[in-house]
Amino acid sequence: MQHLHPLSPLLREVTASLPPSYYCDPGIYTEEVRSVWARGWTYVGRAADLAPGSMRRVDVAGTNVLLARSKTGDIHGYHNVCPHRGSELCTTNEQPLRGGRILCPYHAWSFNIDGSLASTAAASRAPDFDPSVFGLYPVGVTDWNGLLFVCPTDAPEPFGTDNAFGTQDLDNWPMRDLVTAYRETHLVECNWKILWENFSECLHCPGVHPSLCDLIPIHKKGLLAYYDDPDWSPETPAPESELRPGARSWTISGQAATAEFPGLTDDQRSTGHVYCVIWPTLFVVAHVDYISIVSYRPLGAEQTEVTGEVLLSPSALADPDFDLAQIVTFNQQVQDEDAAVCELNQRGLRSSPFASGVLMPEEYNVKTFHEWLRRRMDAAAAVAIPAVACLGVERSHVG
Ligand code: FES
Ligand SMILES: [Fe+2]
Repeated sequence: MQHLHPLSPLLREVTASLPPSYYCDPGIYTEEVRSVWARGWTYVGRAADLAPGSMRRVDVAGTNVLLARSKTGDIHGYHNVCPHRGSELCTTNEQPLRGGRILCPYHAWSFNIDGSLASTAAASRAPDFDPSVFGLYPVGVTDWNGLLFVCPTDAPEPFGTDNAFGTQDLDNWPMRDLVTAYRETHLVECNWKILWENFSECLHCPGVHPSLCDLIPIHKKGLLAYYDDPDWSPETPAPESELRPGARSWTISGQAATAEFPGLTDDQRSTGHVYCVIWPTLFVVAHVDYISIVSYRPLGAEQTEVTGEVLLSPSALADPDFDLAQIVTFNQQVQDEDAAVCELNQRGLRSSPFASGVLMPEEYNVKTFHEWLRRRMDAAAAVAIPAVACLGVERSHVG
C-alpha cells in the first residue's frame, strides 16, 4: 500500500467496523430511528403518483404523515392527526380531498390545503375558541426531481446537506417527465445499515454478481471504479465506459431497452451509469434509457423494506416492441443477490465471538457512511429532547 497516490480514496489503515449491537440491538435501532430517520428526509414516492385533489397516508420513521395535493398541484404534508380530539385524518394510500379540503372522518372538521381550520361542522364554538390555533401540524415536504421526501418535524433541516451525493449529476435526465413503469417491494431480514454497507463496496461483486461483473468488467476485480485500483493516479485516463465494449445500459442484453434520453452529454451516454445517493433513504442509478430507484425503509433492528422502481419515458411504455423484462430481470437479479448476502451478514453478526469487523482499503465508502451515521447520532444526542408540545399551547400555528 506504500505506493498509493495521495489522492487515492483507498483506506491506509485498519479501520474497525461497527460492533454487532448496531445491527441487532433494539435500543440502538430506536436511537437511530430518532436520530437519523426521524430528523432527516425520507423518500415517500413520486409526486406524479399522487393525483391532484387527493391525499395519501405514509409512514415516515414511525410517524404517521398525510400528504395532500391540491387540484393545482401543490403538495403539503401534515401529521396525520386531527387537532379536535386526535383522530387519524387520512386512512388509505389514496383518497380524494372533499371540496379541496382535508376532512376528518370522525366529527367532520375540515382543513384547507394550507392546513388551516376551515370548518368545525356540527360543533358550535365557544366564545374563546380561536380557529387559528387549530390548524394541522406541518411536516417538511420537498420535491426533488419529482421525488417526494418528508422530514417529520416542523423545522426540517435543508434537504441534502451532508447526506446527498451526485444529485446534480442527474440534471440532464428528464426525471419529472418519466412514468413509474415498475415497482416491487421486498422484506429483507437485515438491519438497514447492512444494505448501505453492501451498496458501498464491490469486494463482494466477483463472487455474488456474475451478470453485473460480466457487464462491468472493473467489478470482476472487486473494485467499484477504475480509481480504486491501487496503481491509480490522477494521470490515469478514465475509461470511456464502465461497461463492456459495445454495451450501453444495465439490461439483459447490455443494449438500451428503448430510445436513449435526448438531453444527455456524450460522457453521460458512454459511461453506462450515473449514481446518486441520498442517505439513508435511497439511491438512484441513471442509465441512457431508464432510471432505477432503490429505497429503504427500516421496519426493525433486523428487518428492512426494500423497494425498487423503474422510471421510463411514456413513449417507451407505449411501444409494443418494448420489453420491460430486459430491465427488470437484470435489476431484480442484482437486488436479489445483494439481499441474500445482506441476510447472510445479519445472521452471522449474531455469533457471539464476533466483536467488531474490519474495513479493508477498498471499503472507504463504508467508513464514510459510518462517520456520517456517528455524526448524525452525536448531533441528535447533543440536542435536548423538546417537551412534547400541547395542543393549542406550544405547537406552531398554520395558516
Ligand atoms: S377528531 Fe377530527 S373532527 Fe373530531
Ligand atoms: Fe452488490
